[in-house]
Amino acid sequence: MRIAIDGPAAAGKTTLARSLAEKLGYLFVPTGAMYRAAALAKERGLPPEKVHIEVQEGGRILLEGEDVTELLENPALDELSSQVAVDGRVRRHLVALQRQIARGRDVVMEGRDIGTVVLPDAELKIFLWAEPEERARRRLAERGGDFQEVLAAIRRRDERDSTRKDSPLRPAPDAVILDTTGLSREQVLALALKLVEERRAKLAR
Ligand code: DC
Repeated sequence: MRIAIDGPAAAGKTTLARSLAEKLGYLFVPTGAMYRAAALAKERGLPPEKVHIEVQEGGRILLEGEDVTELLENPALDELSSQVAVDGRVRRHLVALQRQIARGRDVVMEGRDIGTVVLPDAELKIFLWAEPEERARRRLAERGGDFQEVLAAIRRRDERDSTRKDSPLRPAPDAVILDTTGLSREQVLALALKLVEERRAKLAR
């Protein structure tokens, strides 16, 4: 089964996708990290629309063969990756890679356009949502910083990610919208596992 998890910045997509993939024994594919790697490539003077990016078990990311997973968490790449993701050439390059990775495999793939563009026929699509203030609080708990600044950065990314021409962030018509405001990680995971079970039962019929 292919599971698509989309949603805005800091909604908990990576946390949910990783734990869901672990529980189910599926491959975890963090596409946000792939856009971050493209942004890092650009910073290094490499062409982001051509650069070699690989996703390994556990969602580790290789850029031109170098494991850059930890470097991708750098907050400077939040903004840069959102900017690089507006470029249609970069999107085409990464979408092709993402489809190739998912071909014939069980995957949990998270991002912004997985259910709409990358895997429109995914068996389960979840759109993870939380109010911007809640997302800012979660980011702050992880990384620290100033609440108003973090909130403004989240709003700026939401705006850019959802108004860009190419593959804007929006729920697929057949996505299940999961509002996680006020829910713990464990509660969100339990809800997602229930959706997987329901989907499996339907597919088996
Ligand atoms: O999920 P993230 O915050 O690590 O993603 C970084 C940026 O990459 C995000 O602001 C928008 C872009 N992105 C995208 O356009 N499409 C995806 N499938 C995943 C991420």
